[in-house]
Amino acid sequence: MAAARIQHPGMAARVMDAAQAAALIPAGATLGMSGFTGSGHPKRVPQALAARIEAEHAAGRPFKVNLWTGASTAPELDGALAKVGGIAQRLPFQSDPACRERINAGEIDYVDVHLSHVAQQAWFGFLGPLNVAVIEVLGILPDGRLIPSAAVGNNKTWLDIAEHVILEVNTLPPAGLEGMHDIYYGTAIPPRRKPIHLEQATERIGEPYLRVDPAKVIAVVPTHHADRHTAFAKPDADSRAIAGHIIDFLDHEVKKGRLPRNMLPLQSGVGNVANAVLAGLLDGPFEDLLGFSEVLQDGMLELLRTGKMRAASATAISLSQEAMREFTDHIGFYRERIVLRSQQISNHPELVRRLGVIAMNAMIEADIYGNINSTHLMGSAMMNGIGGSGDFARNGYLSFFVTPSTAKGGAISCIVPMVSHVDHTEHDTQIIVTEQGLADLRGLSPRQRAQLIIDRCAHPDWRPLLQDYFDRARQSGAQHTPHRLAEALSWHQRYLETGSMRP
Ligand code: COA
Repeated sequence: MAAARIQHPGMAARVMDAAQAAALIPAGATLGMSGFTGSGHPKRVPQALAARIEAEHAAGRPFKVNLWTGASTAPELDGALAKVGGIAQRLPFQSDPACRERINAGEIDYVDVHLSHVAQQAWFGFLGPLNVAVIEVLGILPDGRLIPSAAVGNNKTWLDIAEHVILEVNTLPPAGLEGMHDIYYGTAIPPRRKPIHLEQATERIGEPYLRVDPAKVIAVVPTHHADRHTAFAKPDADSRAIAGHIIDFLDHEVKKGRLPRNMLPLQSGVGNVANAVLAGLLDGPFEDLLGFSEVLQDGMLELLRTGKMRAASATAISLSQEAMREFTDHIGFYRERIVLRSQQISNHPELVRRLGVIAMNAMIEADIYGNINSTHLMGSAMMNGIGGSGDFARNGYLSFFVTPSTAKGGAISCIVPMVSHVDHTEHDTQIIVTEQGLADLRGLSPRQRAQLIIDRCAHPDWRPLLQDYFDRARQSGAQHTPHRLAEALSWHQRYLETGSMRP
């Protein structure tokens, strides 16, 4: 089956197994791998490389690689390489427990980058040379062009700039994915850059295949292996309440004439809460929606299936097993409605701003002034990374950040006096939503924002404590943004010492 998918004679001559391909990767190499939110990553070569690294370490020889991808991958890539201590540098996003542990232990140098920035920073040369690209594809055409898999991510750039290329040809994903991709080859680096003429969220401006110089391809490895298949928690009462507040707000904006009835293109972030918000739109009053997001998860697929959403643009499809079955069984239907692009286009700040995207991203905590922490637990432990949240939040027409108002059984308030790490500043945040309510911060000063966030978003158990902090901060000679600096992070400190933020 794999042979039929590898139609370029030169590349067919380089078919080998994963161990042989992994043996071509030198210690210290920088690798650009495919993979975005658990889909489209190479499945076999990373595991073979991990086995080789383990053997080298057992023999007392150091062996690590630098690992760049599109975004998060799966246990057989991030997990396998992290577990054997094989990763020196990792960028731009991960969500793997083993990888996270090594990052937080200081063993992996993790560089957390806006997803739209990665390809251009690599192309500018800011990150150093890329030695080997390891890219999953669905097939190789007779002329050497590549059929992309369920995630495009940074594959175009890795194939363009890598010195050598290893391809994994996966025969398991539905062959009907062919034709769903739109790979744009009109990018350039300054000062030769041109505008990207994408005027409508799901318009096609590129070509369905990836290009590669066949002379750079050193190995082709056949595989037959499924993507990660993220299972989503069924939307709970908090997620449903958050979705309800957002839908009421959007409805209000339509009535005010600030949004068309079919909305502007929607972006939804990763995680259970973000997925639940999309599920909430199923019962909302809006029709004929468009998606302009980085990842297409179950919630958006359901909107497409039911006809609530007309079409969607993303860089990756990341579905639960059940949703994958629906997608595969009706691939013709979805191919007409989904466009998969490079992440530098799906997350492009200029496009997000011009198309007027409505950005909805989950967060870890917000402070009373609207600064957002998306990445760090208690200021220091990396969770996943900033991902594309900054690409969309800063540039969106509307920008929502959502979270349940408490975490860890109520021991943590997700609304705090001062965030313990800043990913999105108050200047990039327009609307904060918890299950308690929604704070519309547009046009408000810091003091106005603080009162609204406390009143609308804080949990009733924590509201008096936040009000007390804000009141005392205002009294103590405070200026534009009232704070008591010695106390501002004491809630986090108390949690670390006692297991609760409560005094
Ligand atoms: N302090 C400490 N821990 C907190 C917390 C807080 N304020 N808020 C949540 N947590 C913990 C939860 O308890 C949970 O821990 P557990 O896994 O041990 O149970 C964990 O963080 C995840 O929380 P959950 O409510 O299940 O979140 P989620 O699945 O909706 O994900 C983010 C939330 C913020 C972690 C996730 O959306 C993310 O990584 N965002 C950054 C990247 C991004 O926005 N990408 C989208 C761009 S398109």
